[in-house]
Parts: sequence; C-alpha cells; structure tokens
Amino acid sequence: MTITNTESGTRVDEIAEGIFRICTPVPPNPALPGGFTFNQFLVVDDEPLLFHTGAKRTFPLVRQAVAHVLGDVARLRWVSFSHFEADECGALAEWLEAAPLAQGACSAVGAMVSANDASPRPVRGLAEGEEIALGKKRVRWLDAPHLPHNWECGYLFESTTRTLLCGDLFTHGGWELPPITDSDVLGPAEAMRKAMPSSVAIDRNARAILEKLAATAPRTLALMHGSSYRGDGAALLRALADALGV
Ligand SMILES: [Fe+2]
Ligand SMILES: [Fe+2]
Repeated sequence: MTITNTESGTRVDEIAEGIFRICTPVPPNPALPGGFTFNQFLVVDDEPLLFHTGAKRTFPLVRQAVAHVLGDVARLRWVSFSHFEADECGALAEWLEAAPLAQGACSAVGAMVSANDASPRPVRGLAEGEEIALGKKRVRWLDAPHLPHNWECGYLFESTTRTLLCGDLFTHGGWELPPITDSDVLGPAEAMRKAMPSSVAIDRNARAILEKLAATAPRTLALMHGSSYRGDGAALLRALADALGV
C-alpha cells in the first residue's frame, strides 16, 4: 500500500496481479455519517486501462496515483467507465487531455447517448461481450442496464485474473476500510441500499443480468465504493439477486 496524497489520504493497493485500486476516502459528514470511498481501478499491461475517472474535483488526486503506478499518465491507452455519473466519468475530458493516446470506452448506449458529447475524441462504444486486448490481459464488456442504475450501465471482466470491475454493485459505507476483504460485503451493502432505497433500480431483468455476471466466475470483485471482495464472486452475485428479491 502507498499513500499517494497525504492530505486526502488517497492510496494505491494492488488487489489482483497488475490491477491497482486507487481509493480516496471521504470522512464522516452529515450526508454520509459513516464516511465513504471513491475507487478507481488501473489495469496495468501494454495498454493500461483506467476504470472510472473520478469526478473533476478529484482529478489531481487520481492523476497523482496513476502517475505513481505508471510513471507517466500519458502511458494510459483506455479510459473506461460503467455509466454516466460524475464519479464514474466526470473527469473523462481531463484524462483524454492528459493521455493523448488514450481512448474512452463504455457501452454502445453510453457512447451514443452521453459520452461522445462529453469527450474531446470519439468514444468506443462496446457491444455486449466485446473484448479489448490490453497485452496479456483482456477485458470483456458486459451490459448491465439499470443494475444498479442508468440505461447505459455495464461492467468489465478481466479474464486472466478473473476480476470483475463491478462499479456501484455492493456499494457500502465506511472510509477506513481494508482495500480487499474476504468477509461479508453484501450485508453492509444491503444496509446502505435500504438507507437510500432509490439508488438501486429493481429491474425485471436484474436476476438474468446477475446470472450473466456470475457466469464469469469472478475471484475478485472490484467495488467502486467500499472494500473489494476476494472469494466466490458468483455466489455473492446470486446472493445479491436474492437480497433484491428479483
Ligand atoms: Fe452510479
Ligand atoms: Fe459510483
């Protein structure tokens, strides 16, 4: 673990081989009494990929962390994200300026509806199951509309480490959390969902989408908010479907 910014507490941890979690904690406040975390994931290979840009206001912190791992942020080749919200892709334009050879990548719907309008260069719209070879590592796009929110939502699965970059799924509070855990993340996530019930869409296709994600048999779930999870990811995704009652 390395703290890359002492003022914010932004830190970098390798959670799977060549996959780095960049975490900026948010101390307890009236809106989030238990505190919170914003995590981006950097997949290092010949063509490094960043999943989630962070919001514009945190761009300097994330940039500092990416530079710590890559040496030069201009090495980035892909800037990808789950859906169109400030924490997922607010700093897309800043990243594409800092990394002139990088390309944005999200779902085909996301590119069509929002991302191309927010990007200085065309964004690659990924179809269901489409893969990007990063070198030794490969990422596969998996559409997940409305799970937990937004039409254009989707995730990336890195097959060599069996890591599912699963965005807002299993979002849980806390700001002094281990980077990765093998203990329960569904319980804390359900507690937060029940406190903010409108944050998750209970879509009629949610069970089928969670089954599709479970079929990747992930060993690591890389969570955007909270600790990442190491263990039987498929079982946890099916348990989420049960908890949602879908
Ligand atoms: Fe979100
Ligand atoms: Fe998020």
